[in-house]
Amino acid sequence: MLILTIESSCDETSAAVIRGGWEILSNAVASQIPVHRRYGGVVPELASRNHIRDVHTVLEEALEEAGVELGEIEGIGVTVGPGLVGSLLVGIETAKGLAYGLGCPCVGLNHLEGHLTAVLLDTGQEVPEFPYVGLIVSGGHTDLYVVRGLGDYELLGRTRDDAAGEAFDKVAKMLGLPYPGGVVIDELSEEGDPKAVEFPRPMWTRENLDFSFSGLKTAVARHLEEEGLLRGQDLKDLCASFQEAVVDVLVMKGLHACESRGLKRWVISGGVACNRRLREVAMARSAEAGVELFVAPPRLCTDNAAMLGPVAAAALREAEGCGFELKARATMPLGRGDRAVGARHR
Ligand code: KG4
Ligand code: ZN
Repeated sequence: MLILTIESSCDETSAAVIRGGWEILSNAVASQIPVHRRYGGVVPELASRNHIRDVHTVLEEALEEAGVELGEIEGIGVTVGPGLVGSLLVGIETAKGLAYGLGCPCVGLNHLEGHLTAVLLDTGQEVPEFPYVGLIVSGGHTDLYVVRGLGDYELLGRTRDDAAGEAFDKVAKMLGLPYPGGVVIDELSEEGDPKAVEFPRPMWTRENLDFSFSGLKTAVARHLEEEGLLRGQDLKDLCASFQEAVVDVLVMKGLHACESRGLKRWVISGGVACNRRLREVAMARSAEAGVELFVAPPRLCTDNAAMLGPVAAAALREAEGCGFELKARATMPLGRGDRAVGARHR
């Protein structure tokens, strides 16, 4: 089955063509980073307008790269939440129109589900078997799940305040660094000393699997109040020390989740999973703990449409309608069986 997937939940417009749910034929992404950079974060209204501008180009690119005609598409999967409602609507309405025109089914998908299962796509890397522990670390989420199968998730813990990516972005802003801060902090940290500044490891407890990053952000702000704006090596050291605190907590909690559930496999996904130090530390500590770690290539960790392939294929198996009833959802919990599937409309 040739599937077209569309993702527009935040500031990336993306379309992908996936064969059978696992084989990526194309994955076109138009990033809006330059648009939002001057404001230091995503401006929702600008995001929606830019999705409208980019969505057709991205669709054409995806089809061309895949060498597929639009008429050959047999099913469509689109992100319906969680995300910015105005942004989601662009993808959703485009998907509905295409599905109606093609007479093919269209299903609504959960963005988080895409992140959690992107690692199952065929990339030449080894793929985890179910069940596995899945950590989503993105700009909006820091959530730990047990993934028992496609559509079968159990939430173990989540952030009580800022998401990990949000903490990276806010700390970067405090340091006068451009958006999105995670990438810049990752780069500056390469030459920094992670032990230079001793930052707290928030929620360093095995009592529960929740996270909290706002206290760490405040600790950085206090340090800056005392030291003034940092430059050169001091800036690199601060970045490395902050990053190390985030990484320590994420890896400790992820491995604790594996241990407490008796699972020997875990997955890190979402934009922050691109972080080099996180990958390095998680790999080393997982090996020590005898747990296998799976992380998708970076292009499948940040927002993209291909990550929806596995869940789209599963949902399309049960779907018939062209998705007229699909609505954008700002929040969309991902509990057991809580997956939006396409309507039986025609
Ligand atoms: O998954 P994603 O593309 O979008 C959301 O669903 O939020 O994640 C974006 C987040 C941003 O906060 C960005 O700063 C962070 O991922 N990020 C990184 C890195 N690359 C992206 N954080 C740390 N290190 C990176 N290399
Ligand atoms: Zn995301």
